[in-house]
Amino acid sequence: MKWLLAVSLGYCSFLILRYILRKRILIRGKTVLITGASSGLGEALARCLFRRQCQLILLARRYDRLERLSQELMESHPTYPKPKLVQIDLSQFDQIASSATLMNILQQESIDCVINNAGISQRSSVLSTPIELVNEIFRLNYLSLVALTKLILTKIIERKQKNAVIVNISSLQGLIAVPDRSSYSASKHAVQAFSDSLRMELREEYPEQNLHVCVVSPSYIRTELGQQAMSRLNTSESHAQDNHSSAYEADYVAEKIIKAIEYREDDVIIAPFQQKIGIWLRRFWPEGFFKLMIARNRRLKRKT
Ligand SMILES: NC(=O)c1ccc[n+]([C@@H]2O[C@H](COP(=O)([O-])OP(=O)(O)OC[C@H]3O[C@@H](n4cnc5c(N)ncnc54)[C@H](OP(=O)(O)O)[C@@H]3O)[C@@H](O)[C@H]2O)c1
Repeated sequence: MKWLLAVSLGYCSFLILRYILRKRILIRGKTVLITGASSGLGEALARCLFRRQCQLILLARRYDRLERLSQELMESHPTYPKPKLVQIDLSQFDQIASSATLMNILQQESIDCVINNAGISQRSSVLSTPIELVNEIFRLNYLSLVALTKLILTKIIERKQKNAVIVNISSLQGLIAVPDRSSYSASKHAVQAFSDSLRMELREEYPEQNLHVCVVSPSYIRTELGQQAMSRLNTSESHAQDNHSSAYEADYVAEKIIKAIEYREDDVIIAPFQQKIGIWLRRFWPEGFFKLMIARNRRLKRKT
């Protein structure tokens, strides 16, 4: 028993020491590219990073929204670097490199941080989700993230740039799946696996460049994601709505992400304690987890 106590104490001291001694690389004044910056989390990240005087490169399809955001930011701080805007449909992942605007920017700017944030979700069972929607979800949530990461990383490595960070916005559903989100959840699981492989490869092959990969897995955030997903499919099925009473504000999540970038964290789970327990439950008592999630889904469906 004594040895168990000694090992636990030793491990706790190690964790505390590691926490105290962790290095921080400030993001202030760095060049940051954010996908899906026209709303929700991407927009919140843009606001928080602009306040830190970052040179922003903002990507989305709705250019009018990007322009409005940029104008608002510049009015608040006219001397800060003006965001550069790129209108692009990232789901056409094989055409990312043919965007002249993006390629010009990448030629001029050394990107210190890429935040792969653009994403879409679903509200439909496996049987009622058309394969075209599955394809669309994977094209944006996974394939475009891979394509853009490869494009930017190649430049970072060619320039022998140090301390660059790739941030991949996954989801709690990239760690545990729930009903009616099969493809969304699968695409986010893919992001998690891709990021883990990439992190190990970069550490092994380019140790001198100190490149970092950070995966962020947030729980529900108050954004347009759910509404957009509902409008994507008209079925008579009823779906459990996101539990918005416990949802986070996008600004809160954005600040947590910035802290994770500065402290070079590998994995960040932004979720209430009971949802974090779900991850543990899925691994060590899957049967119990499935029963709990089915019951929760029924309860949420009854409420809608
Ligand atoms: N909201 C949540 O509860 C939650 C929880 C965990 C993780 N997340 C993740 O957080 C990220 C941001 O989502 P959000 O909640 O902020 O949702 P959101 O408000 O709907 O924002 C999604 C962003 O993605 C962009 N986008 C969508 N399709 C695109 C395309 N084909 N090409 C380029 N950009 C595209 C949208 O811009 P345009 O429409 O202008 O192109 C928008 O800026 C997503 O990866 C999502 O999976 C969200």
